[in-house]
Amino acid sequence: EIEERHVESLSTMDHNLCVKNIIWSKEEWPAINYDEFVDGDDIPIISVQVLDEKKKKSQDYEILCQAMVNASSSWGFFKLVDHGVDLKVIENVKLRLNELFDLPMEQKLKGARSASLPLGYSATNPDYGKNLPWAEILQLLQSPKHVVAFATKVFGDQHQSFSDAMIEYMHELDKLGMKFFEMLASGLGLEDDFFTKSFEEKGYTMIRINRYPPCPLPEKCLGLGSHSDPHALTILLQDHVGGLQVLKTDHQWVGIRPIPNSFVINIGDTLEAWTNGRLKSVVHRAVVNKEKQRLSAAYFLSPSSSAIIDCPPQLMVMDPSTNPRKYIPFTWEDFKKELLVQKRVVGKTALNRY
Ligand code: SIN
Ligand code: FE2
Repeated sequence: EIEERHVESLSTMDHNLCVKNIIWSKEEWPAINYDEFVDGDDIPIISVQVLDEKKKKSQDYEILCQAMVNASSSWGFFKLVDHGVDLKVIENVKLRLNELFDLPMEQKLKGARSASLPLGYSATNPDYGKNLPWAEILQLLQSPKHVVAFATKVFGDQHQSFSDAMIEYMHELDKLGMKFFEMLASGLGLEDDFFTKSFEEKGYTMIRINRYPPCPLPEKCLGLGSHSDPHALTILLQDHVGGLQVLKTDHQWVGIRPIPNSFVINIGDTLEAWTNGRLKSVVHRAVVNKEKQRLSAAYFLSPSSSAIIDCPPQLMVMDPSTNPRKYIPFTWEDFKKELLVQKRVVGKTALNRY
């Protein structure tokens, strides 16, 4: 059913595997299209104009922190506008990423993902035996050294513009992420640095860029299957096309309408465990479409390896009868190892599917 040339454009790595698995199991077929947005039923929009230091502890700041906590405990997702990240930095990273994905396959494969670690470029996603995502994927660590090493493999001594764009972008997102953690802590009644002090080492903070080519059979494929994010917090950049859908508590998929110059923020499994389930890591997916290619980039903030992820007593004693401890304390290091072997850790089934 799928035209060979489309499959070819997506994968030259294992053509047969790709053809066989590109059509998803029936129960996963998306019932709503990429551009069906349910009006009035979208995630909250939060504007963080007041983020500068001197406004901290003002009433506006407290209201904002509360709004973030509310959005994170209901939807697990919110849109962030007026975020203060330089638009030039964002436009530049989109440009450089599209340039990379536009390269001939042989050149991209110079930076192919290694078998042992899920880092680098991949045209077919080796994590998926069947139900192959309709996407090309690039995963990179936040570390500048790692970015340069990848970019040098692909671009040789012409790597600078790509490397600089990625490094600068990730640096900005990291700063933004730390502000969120302070605000979430404040909104939860914890010390401002409750979370940030566990992010001194950036070891496993990473970015995953998805580029979804136009898909001949969007009703039977997914760009990214339903999953929750295992890390602490995700800052997602998406272009104007749309395709991200979030599973609401009533089991309805809701399309997240893209807003220009905004980010989508969502809570990961780690932060859900850290707050004893107060903040929610919600299942989401990406659908694709026939006409348009789409780019999205998810920045996953991960704690230092030795950080112990344990719910503070304040969040458990709030209501001991309904709020007993749900997760055993764990270190990010242990969790990360488990993730790499795709095992379940803290009793959250979605982890299995990541
Ligand atoms: C993701 O879940 O990592 C990204 C989904 C999207 O492409 O919007
Ligand atoms: Fe995700």
